[in-house]
Amino acid sequence: EKLSLWGGRFAGGPADALAALSKSTHFDWRLAPHDIAGSRAHAQVLAAAGLLDDVSLAAMLAGLDELEADVISGAFTPAEDDEDVHTALERGLIERAGADVGGRLRAGRSRNDQIATLFRMYLREQAQHLSGRVLDVVDALLAQADRHLGVAMPGRTHLQHAQPVLLSHHLLAHVWALLRDVERFADWDRRADHSPYGSGALAGSSLGLDPEKVAANLGFSRSVENSIDGTASRDFAAEFAFVCAMTAIDISRIAEEVVLWATKEFGFIRLDDAYSTGSSIMPQKKNPDIAELARGKAGRLVGDLTGLLTTLKSLPLAYNRDLQEDKEPVFDAIDTLYVLLPAFAGMIATMTFDTERLESLAPQGFSLATDIAEWLVRQGVAFRIAHEVAGACVRECETRRIELWDLGDTDLADISPHLTPGVREVLSVPGSLASRDAKGGTAPVRVAEQLIAAKNAVAQA
Ligand code: ARG
Repeated sequence: EKLSLWGGRFAGGPADALAALSKSTHFDWRLAPHDIAGSRAHAQVLAAAGLLDDVSLAAMLAGLDELEADVISGAFTPAEDDEDVHTALERGLIERAGADVGGRLRAGRSRNDQIATLFRMYLREQAQHLSGRVLDVVDALLAQADRHLGVAMPGRTHLQHAQPVLLSHHLLAHVWALLRDVERFADWDRRADHSPYGSGALAGSSLGLDPEKVAANLGFSRSVENSIDGTASRDFAAEFAFVCAMTAIDISRIAEEVVLWATKEFGFIRLDDAYSTGSSIMPQKKNPDIAELARGKAGRLVGDLTGLLTTLKSLPLAYNRDLQEDKEPVFDAIDTLYVLLPAFAGMIATMTFDTERLESLAPQGFSLATDIAEWLVRQGVAFRIAHEVAGACVRECETRRIELWDLGDTDLADISPHLTPGVREVLSVPGSLASRDAKGGTAPVRVAEQLIAAKNAVAQA
């Protein structure tokens, strides 16, 4: 006969099919250390409320210590009949501290407030760890930006040559996006910093237990204001899944560029052998698998978020068993980032740039045309005219299959009397770059400052 937590009202144990459906130990066991921490805190408030004498409290804490050691060593694991992490650990405590002491712990708490608390505790730790792995990618990007300060590349919009930019400027654009993801984890934590312990099943506890004490004991700044909200809300999980998905999406945008940059046609980068793969049939191949997996896994994380949101949609208050479906998608998002981010950081750190090629392509595709227009504006010409004149220069060059800087003095004068030979000053990549010197621009002086600002942001993250 199976032991269950609700034996009194039931004539027999659950059907095997129900038990199989209901079971969650294969994924919620990772919360065991947090469940034990919760039990310790709960034992303290039971004692403070006069519901546990000193001897029983000591026996219970000793039992929990022993259980924790056995969980860590692997000596204690969930049994076939244990429904979830809470059931398994209650059995473990009773086996160690005896049925009388072990059986007292469940007073005034429910698996509903337990799971809502443990999940928050676990995610708060993961937010820190994941931020660290994101910062490893940031460090790799910063090192490349540092190493290549001054190298120009073609900046693109619509994937077409647009204007020359510094390679470091481009890499730093990804850095800022990832730093916002790190910031999101920290912002999220402020909202997750409320403990639902003491909410009971939904209505709160009648036993004089102090939720604030438990909260403080478990590292929360406060307990929830509303026991229904505490046990039934999962926006903390959805928001966490969003931050994971956003991180993966930001990574996937770098990944897509790495895939393009590694092609023969772009030829911007070479991936290190240790961070690329070969082909079983084509001996010449070197494939950007890490970047491709990053692109693919971003889709998976969006799926995790979407699945969770869909589970939560229209769910009435308070706790419903649907909520057990909250954990796997978030765990999957976390586990995926843990395998992805270190590989990605390694790939970025070890890839090498063909700086000559980047530099030589920077002015191609008439990417200095805007510089002609802006030079004309500085000479007092209206931008509408300046745009037209610069466009005419491009058209002339296209027909003659020459570059903008090949236009002679008379060619220029023929296009427009405003085009004096002085325009050639801006018809160079260094001239173009240097001219974009307002804050946030790609001028080398500004990018050097930006690099320092990014390093400072990392130091403060
Ligand atoms: N395992 C459940 C979960 O993850 C917690 C148990 C609540 N079950 C219940 N029947 N009230 O949400």
